[in-house]
Amino acid sequence: MKKAFIFDLDGVIVDTAKYHFLAWQNLADSLGIPFSSAQNEQLKGVSRVRSLEKILEWGNKSISEEEFTRLMSEKNEEYLVYISKMDTTEILPDVPRVLDCLISKEQSIALGSASKNARIILEKVQLYDKFQAIVDGTNVSKAKPDPEVFLIGAQMLDIAPENCVVFEDSVAGIQAANTANMISIGIGDDKVLHQADYIFKDFTEIKEEFINQLITTPKSLTIK
Ligand code: BG6
Ligand code: MG
Repeated sequence: MKKAFIFDLDGVIVDTAKYHFLAWQNLADSLGIPFSSAQNEQLKGVSRVRSLEKILEWGNKSISEEEFTRLMSEKNEEYLVYISKMDTTEILPDVPRVLDCLISKEQSIALGSASKNARIILEKVQLYDKFQAIVDGTNVSKAKPDPEVFLIGAQMLDIAPENCVVFEDSVAGIQAANTANMISIGIGDDKVLHQADYIFKDFTEIKEEFINQLITTPKSLTIK
């Protein structure tokens, strides 16, 4: 059976959350807004615009539209400096093994990310060519938890949503996959990602037997 496997990028394929955190932290500091790593958790999977809105809400700050635009591009410029130094060593454990396993089984693979920097990052870590379809922050109008990003991916690969499997590290992303009627696999903390159909700490826990099961079993029989 041919299924589509849709991967989120930040926190699933690469650990870029630390760079987003550093850049948002500097921005929050410059505005005198306290910003913790717990708050950073809440920005995972969230678009750039919405992330800045949330930080300003936490700090009870309102700013002009021009200032908002300026801060967004300042944050992104700093983030781009961090990612310009990325290489293959920043790929999270066993991601290439799972990608290659899926490719060897002739499965379709897509990227479904909120990031407008997704393509640059995939090129930096030399994984760009593994993906048959890439949907990123430049292709979507509605942010996760809206299912748009994954539904576009499924459409590009011409695979029905119930035959799609999504790997996600954010709550918003798991909700998006569930709403899309896809199988959701949480990568990370099971307490945070409890809405997922399956949860793994990371890809080292995803064995070939499990991948075979995902490929051969219809969604109605797969989920808990
Ligand atoms: C998501 C990240 O993948 O992309 C968020 O989890 C980030 O933290 C969002 O804000 C948008 O990314 P970018 O690269 O377009 O600012
Ligand atoms: Mg993510």
